[in-house]
Amino acid sequence: MAIQPGTSIAAVQAGLPLDPLENRILLCHATGLTRVQLITQGDRPLTPDEAARLDDLVARRLRGEPIAYIVGRREFFGLDFQVGPAVLIPRPDTELIVELALERLPQERLPQERLPQDRLPQDRLPQNTPRLLDMGTGSGAIAVAVAHTRPDTAVTALDVSPDALAVAQANAAANGARVRFLHSSWFDALAAGEMFDVIASNPPYIAAGDDHLAQGDLRFEPVGALTDHADGLSALRTIIAGSPRHLVPGGWLLLEHGYDQAEAVRALLADAGYTEVQSWCDLAGIERVSGGRFAH
Ligand SMILES: C[S@@+](CC[C@H](N)C(=O)[O-])C[C@H]1O[C@@H](n2cnc3c(N)ncnc32)[C@H](O)[C@@H]1O
Repeated sequence: MAIQPGTSIAAVQAGLPLDPLENRILLCHATGLTRVQLITQGDRPLTPDEAARLDDLVARRLRGEPIAYIVGRREFFGLDFQVGPAVLIPRPDTELIVELALERLPQERLPQERLPQDRLPQDRLPQNTPRLLDMGTGSGAIAVAVAHTRPDTAVTALDVSPDALAVAQANAAANGARVRFLHSSWFDALAAGEMFDVIASNPPYIAAGDDHLAQGDLRFEPVGALTDHADGLSALRTIIAGSPRHLVPGGWLLLEHGYDQAEAVRALLADAGYTEVQSWCDLAGIERVSGGRFAH
């Protein structure tokens, strides 16, 4: 569609072809105006530059590109995250694993004390520092949300994608969250004997060839964040098998997985010797996270 410069902002907004929320987000992005300014400046004519920018944004959205990639941002756990094609767009469902991890981190060890984790070698952290590992951090959503909420925790986040790690690092800095980032395929870059109270992961879990990969937002997201190129459970199996070597006695492994994988993941956890194996439901009532403790 060709948006005419000189048309009032209110008239342009009324004529845009997307749903009202998306129309407003793209109009704000094209003009640099806030939601309130769109109303207070509704009579102002759109400049030629704004009209051209808006045309481009609307065309991208009409081609199916996720709105989060178009504006480059997504809110997660009350924090603002930069997102782009190198990272999965953080989903509201993933807030569940953050809440479960926060509930399971040891309390009152170093209340509210900020740790200079990025300068301290891991083996020199005070022994009683709570520790969390986020495996496959993507945008850094889980790690940054935990580190922001519990600044006394030593949070480590890893990913196999250097481009994702760059985005995650920027998100940690922008949100004032101290996170140690590792470029690693699952456990490869972790030192032997490096232990965590909680390991959390939202790994790729869509099976190769699954129809969902060719639908909706997923068409635009990094394939390595979505599928394990196998049966959907291979990354989950690797993490379940390797975590006992990096969990303190009684430490928790928490795994986000597909809507139909909870039973299989619970079986994998139980077979590997985890206890208190259970699943938790997301807001839609779907078993979305499964986990257990490893006693040693
Ligand atoms: C589903 S995304 C999760 C991103 C983020 N944690 C979230 O919840 O929004 C999975 C992430 O796992 C990463 N990943 C895939 N294979 C990996 C591997 N072998 N080792 C480490 N990370 C891997 C991907 O690059 C991607 O960032």
